[in-house]
Amino acid sequence: MSIQIIPAKNLFTLHTAHTSYQMWADERGILHHLYYGPAIGDDDLRPTEFYSDCGFSPNPAGVEVRDYSLDTMSQEYTGCGVGDYRISCLSVSNGDGSPLADLRFVEAKLVPGKYSLPGLPAAFDEDGDCQTLRVVLKDPVTALTVTLLYGVYEKADVITRAAILENGGTGTIRLHKAASACLDLPFGEWELIHFHGRHCMERQPQRAPLSFGIQTLRSARGASSHHHNPFAILAAPHTTEDAGDCLGAMLVYSGNFKIECEVSQLHSTRLIAGISDDDFCWTLAPGESFTTPEVLFSYTTGGLGELSRQYHRFLQHSIIRSPWKNRPRPILINNWEATYMDFDGERIYNITRQAHELGVEMMVLDDGWFGERADDTSGLGDWWVNEEKLGCSLSDLIGRIRALGMRFGIWIEPEMVCRGTRLYAEHPDWVLAAPGRTPATGRSQLVLDMGRKDVVDCLYGIFSALLRDNDISYIKWDMNRNITDLYSHVLPAGRQGEAAHRYMLGLYDLLDRLTREFPEVLFEGCSGGGGRFDAGMLQYFPQIWCSDDTDPIHRLKIQYGTSFGYPPCTMGSHVSASPNHQSGRHTPLNTRAVVAMAGAFGYELDLGLLSEEEKAQIRTQIDTCRKLQPLLLDGRYDRLTDAMTDTCFTAWQLTASDASRAAVSLVVLNPQANPWPIHITLKGLDPDAHYRDSRTGKVFTGAALCHAGLTLPILSGDYTAVQILLERTDT
Ligand code: GLA
Repeated sequence: MSIQIIPAKNLFTLHTAHTSYQMWADERGILHHLYYGPAIGDDDLRPTEFYSDCGFSPNPAGVEVRDYSLDTMSQEYTGCGVGDYRISCLSVSNGDGSPLADLRFVEAKLVPGKYSLPGLPAAFDEDGDCQTLRVVLKDPVTALTVTLLYGVYEKADVITRAAILENGGTGTIRLHKAASACLDLPFGEWELIHFHGRHCMERQPQRAPLSFGIQTLRSARGASSHHHNPFAILAAPHTTEDAGDCLGAMLVYSGNFKIECEVSQLHSTRLIAGISDDDFCWTLAPGESFTTPEVLFSYTTGGLGELSRQYHRFLQHSIIRSPWKNRPRPILINNWEATYMDFDGERIYNITRQAHELGVEMMVLDDGWFGERADDTSGLGDWWVNEEKLGCSLSDLIGRIRALGMRFGIWIEPEMVCRGTRLYAEHPDWVLAAPGRTPATGRSQLVLDMGRKDVVDCLYGIFSALLRDNDISYIKWDMNRNITDLYSHVLPAGRQGEAAHRYMLGLYDLLDRLTREFPEVLFEGCSGGGGRFDAGMLQYFPQIWCSDDTDPIHRLKIQYGTSFGYPPCTMGSHVSASPNHQSGRHTPLNTRAVVAMAGAFGYELDLGLLSEEEKAQIRTQIDTCRKLQPLLLDGRYDRLTDAMTDTCFTAWQLTASDASRAAVSLVVLNPQANPWPIHITLKGLDPDAHYRDSRTGKVFTGAALCHAGLTLPILSGDYTAVQILLERTDT
């Protein structure tokens, strides 16, 4: 049983294969957190609790016990205003204006299977691996009821959490903050690893010890953002890739979020994750409820590499819905960095033909095919095909591409509109903009109010027709600015604080409808690259364009950081031109391909400019990519070096789930004169099996490769890369 309830003690223990999680409700109804960590069996951990009369930590009403204070207890989900001064899950104003919520235990129930969250992406359970614990807490005065949901995935070593807040009373309650979960670790030194960044340099890991006080990671941009990812890791100080305690908290949400950590006066650590309280206010009339997004917790003693693999497997298995998640993705050519918006149908067809000759399987027509979209200052929202620009109809173009045996994909940016379009002229009130104010633009575009049903229905009509009327195999769904002027014309003044989350609910509704109706279409998410790379989006998009920066040397860091939480097969990654359009850096074609093969692979350059020798290389790359795809989809991923601090080279490894094959990739960052040897030890191979090195034909045991390692020949020149394929052999 993965969930154990001892009613006499109100003690609840969640068991996964390697971890335990324990909580209990005391006689006063406070739900204490006792433990999250390596498996501890059925032990009752209440004696590990620490009570002290801490001074200036109040005692709850009616409790004259000086060492009993909410301010010093580890709790599962905190109320507010009643004596815990740390960061809290809730902030409310009740009908009488009071900012108080005092949550007391009502009941706990085991529910078979996995709960779902209406309107929100959430983990599902196809294999019967999950059980749900529902714990109900209630404020005795306002009757605000908080139902805590715990999804216990036994084999996956993942515990999901979410909360449903319901107004069971008679007064209106305003939620100014409603977090998804709190994790109150009573003991231990923790280091926080988080993933910050900017456009063209997303998800850069940063690791630092948590110190007394609060550290906050957040996005208030209306998207999970390039700048902070809704994923954080707490690691014990000496945790490495291969060993040590660490736990992750990943939000299944793509909008404004907050992950906060506080080290308290007594040296306990509280982590709270959920929707950001920036500009948030949700009104709960009597009987109404609010559902928070989900958080995925996972814990391991096996180091950061194992934690990443737990998330990779879980996202692949229980978050991504698309049937494409288990399929090799078509190798594509995207025309963006080849032509930008300067194309017609003939140019696109020529690119397709050249790509087809080299073995590419799909043409993706990027931005600029619709409306009056000559450049990025106009046209978004007018999704009629610009036949004058193309010189043909879309179906003619697709027909010619399909006749080559190639699939066809197309770029869209549904959530936006430009001034000067028909859509904007007809529906100026569809954009987020406050009365009497001119809204700010970003990339010359305005943001549609996705919280409006009429907007979502209209977009559904446009894009379902596009997919129904055309032979389209792939959609690149972009979002190229962040939200400002958060004001919805359909919400009353007192409910404007709901606009940002309602935007997300509308977006998820649209994605849900389109992806359910067109399950065979491969959707790739994008937001100026990786500005919305999160588990929420992965529910609908099995891959996401990782970054607008295609420089392979920058990508080493971006893909490295992304890999801590997200499987490599979800990272869109393309071979682009050299010199690179973002950085101006020159790199060999082989290196660009080796780096792109660590993700969902494709090309994004003008193939007409390549030499015959380079074209031959591309044919070989496509063959190699096809061999690697199964490893990428269901294999194990290892970071062999630390891409953030590497000065000589960066290396990573993909290994088949049965350890029958592996691929090691390595990029030299800085060639040396009179160099030190390049030596790497591998990971995850079967120690007793024999593996043949494809380059040298030499055979080594897995044990030798993982301990003695491989020494590479001297690699000189700028940014040389090698790929070593290892195949299990009987000899
Ligand atoms: C965004 C995307 C790019 C490209 C452009 C088109 O920046 O990330 O890949 O599609 O939009 O405008």
